[in-house]
Amino acid sequence: MLTSASRIAFRQTSRIMNSSALQHEPKRILVTGGAGFIGSNFLLHMVPKYPGVQFVNLDLLTYAGNLLNLQRLEGSGNYHFVEGDIADGDLVRSLFEEHDFTTVVHFAAESHVDRSISDPLAFVRTNMVGTATLLETARHAWKNSQDVRFHHISTDEVFGSLGSEGVFTEETPYDPKSPYAASKAGSDHLVRAYGHTYGLPYTLSNTSNNYGPFQHPEKLIPLVILRCLKEESIPMYGDGMNVRDWLHVHDHCSALECILKYGRDSQTYLVSAEQESTNLNLVQTLTDLIDDITGRPQGRSRELITFVEDRPGHDFRYAIDAQHLRNELGWKPQYDLPAGLLHTVRWYIEHPEWLEAIADESYQQYFEKQYLSSGP
Ligand code: NAD
Ligand code: DAU
Repeated sequence: MLTSASRIAFRQTSRIMNSSALQHEPKRILVTGGAGFIGSNFLLHMVPKYPGVQFVNLDLLTYAGNLLNLQRLEGSGNYHFVEGDIADGDLVRSLFEEHDFTTVVHFAAESHVDRSISDPLAFVRTNMVGTATLLETARHAWKNSQDVRFHHISTDEVFGSLGSEGVFTEETPYDPKSPYAASKAGSDHLVRAYGHTYGLPYTLSNTSNNYGPFQHPEKLIPLVILRCLKEESIPMYGDGMNVRDWLHVHDHCSALECILKYGRDSQTYLVSAEQESTNLNLVQTLTDLIDDITGRPQGRSRELITFVEDRPGHDFRYAIDAQHLRNELGWKPQYDLPAGLLHTVRWYIEHPEWLEAIADESYQQYFEKQYLSSGP
């Protein structure tokens, strides 16, 4: 659901993007982690739009990878799926040899902070060793190549936690607090080190909290929607006053498309729609929307919110200043938070089969293990 103002903003975005100087022309793209939440949204956006570009999706299909997300691409001649591990050097090398990639768009990661607290080594392996394997392969494969580019997708969590004032910019020093954030910071450093030492052409983006279609319900927004629809308790960590800066995944994908083509070599771009909310406000908005749409008495679903034990080391606030991306590349988001949440709630309600498939037995086991001690 786009407002007419948002549509005008998109036309303006397209015009400005087209008037920027093209920096890289992707022809054959290795997308890692393309069966996950953001990667699948990116492929759904890009594959039909660029029929002359070849896309290879390398994904290990961990618990977070879901081929159902990509059903719309079945039969696309410019899309190819490979099940495998980014840390498997032989496999990555053979894919570079076979496809002669011009471009890597690197999403694959362990992405959930709570899981990084219970199993940090999995995060070091995938996010650091996996990224290093891709970089090492790209550096050897691209020795004499022209117009190649490694784009690394990272997070604002590398900058640590803000108090109630201030924002992150490209100049903010790194200060990661969770094992997830530290492993992503390590991967960012590796990308920049390959650029500095070997001249590997790269761009890097650090992005705020994404939401939208196809997100795993371990993350706050789909978790709230899933549990609210089933009239089950909704776990709220601590006092609910932590702040996140929310970006609709479709806006993230348009920003990535823009950076990939128009972003300058060795540049970092912070991506955000600058839409902050406390967790409590966000969750109350979601439950009120669900009351409206399902015809429940207004305010009824708020009763499901249950305060539980806080996340260890819980970062208080994230907020991004995205002026560099907006001013240099002319990118603008289409969704503010109210429009994005309405679109998202409707999407989940309209796709019960997707929710049912993902909320399977292994998800229920994860949920019970995660929240057992807090008793939501
Ligand atoms: P996700 O957890 O939904 O998906 C990750 C994907 O990577 C899955 O398909 C999984 O199967 C795959 N994968 C995991 N380990 C792999 C391996 N060893 N080899 C190949 N594939 C592997 O994650 P997401 O939310 O889509 O995040 C994508 C990227 O964006 C991550 O790098 C994350 O750090 C970053 N990011 C996410 C957000 C957010 O709000 N979700 C915000 C900022 C940055
Ligand atoms: O900022 C970008 C990051 O955003 C990404 O790099 C991560 O991959 C992504 O998972 C996300 O991290 P967060 O920890 O902010 O997202 P999560 O959805 O897990 O939690 C959002 C907020 O909601 C956070 O303050 C914790 C809180 N929360 C979360 C869950 C799952 C709850 O209160 N209850 C919950 O059940």
